[in-house]
Amino acid sequence: MSLKDFVLQNLEENRPSYVSGQQMAEMFQVSRAAVWKAIEALRRDGYEIDSAPKKGYALLPSSDILSKGAIYHFLKSEYRSFSLHVYESIDSTNQAAKKMAVDGAAEGTVIVANTQTAGRGRMGRSFYSPAHSGIYMSMILRPQTDISDTVLLTTAAGVAVCRAIESTCKKPCFIKWLNDIYLDEKKICGILTEAMTNCETGLVDSVIVGIGVNFKTPAHAFPTELQSRAVSIFSDEIPSVTRSHLIAEIVNEFMDLYADFTQKEFLKEYRSRSFVLGKQISYFAQNQWHDALALDIADNGGLIVRDKEGKIHTLHSGEITLRNID
Ligand code: BTN
Repeated sequence: MSLKDFVLQNLEENRPSYVSGQQMAEMFQVSRAAVWKAIEALRRDGYEIDSAPKKGYALLPSSDILSKGAIYHFLKSEYRSFSLHVYESIDSTNQAAKKMAVDGAAEGTVIVANTQTAGRGRMGRSFYSPAHSGIYMSMILRPQTDISDTVLLTTAAGVAVCRAIESTCKKPCFIKWLNDIYLDEKKICGILTEAMTNCETGLVDSVIVGIGVNFKTPAHAFPTELQSRAVSIFSDEIPSVTRSHLIAEIVNEFMDLYADFTQKEFLKEYRSRSFVLGKQISYFAQNQWHDALALDIADNGGLIVRDKEGKIHTLHSGEITLRNID
């Protein structure tokens, strides 16, 4: 580990308290001047670090630069062996994850970017990915399951993101089937799950779970067409946590659920977080929109609906709209 990384890790672990420069110098067996140089280099990278005589250095609560060290710091010990890649800018973390998966990247590999130049959403849409204000992350999984189980991974990811946002940001989250996370009736997060199958075995070779969170983008900064539908977790207040912390918590929560996702324990919570059930919705099938009542979430993650003729259908993919908010 370089001195710069060591200093950053120390500041991160003690944030917002001060850490003595002398102490860090002794621990790393370098001079205080070397520690000071490392602090200056971190400041040049954008970290907001205060210094006070006799106290040392402190990472300010507002300092929110994505870094491996900061993310690892908040990961549970059992997930610290995961390979973590942090990019300043990338086309799409899902695209990068897919390439890495093909090249043999291990399960648990996490790719994170400060901004995406070609962020991808569902149904061929783009995902707005401005710098410094969102979370764009993808996880590589290698479940030994059938392709039909991958819907459950999206469902598990939805529950994991809600839990992570609630525990770190203290905001109540709800899920719009299949995989949109809502706060105050507006979307704060979308999930794009992509699977690659092995043609010979018919089994899933790898699954990429891509998660995009509107973390602190101000309301006016969203493109006009999104303003009525999208919002950030912290749109008009100073965030109480960093993006690195929330990213790590999403990984922690998701990996905990993933350990036995085929047991479907999380479906009960998914149902209780759904703000779709019991509501009138429209869904697109056979080239047209249909009105229906959302009844339940099936055990495979599908949405059970009753159409106007009273027929029951289970939707497995696609888009629904809620008549009152979409
Ligand atoms: C949606 O709401 O339509 C899904 C959006 C998924 C966006 C995330 S951001 C990280 C990952 N990389 C991508 O290109 N897309 C996903």
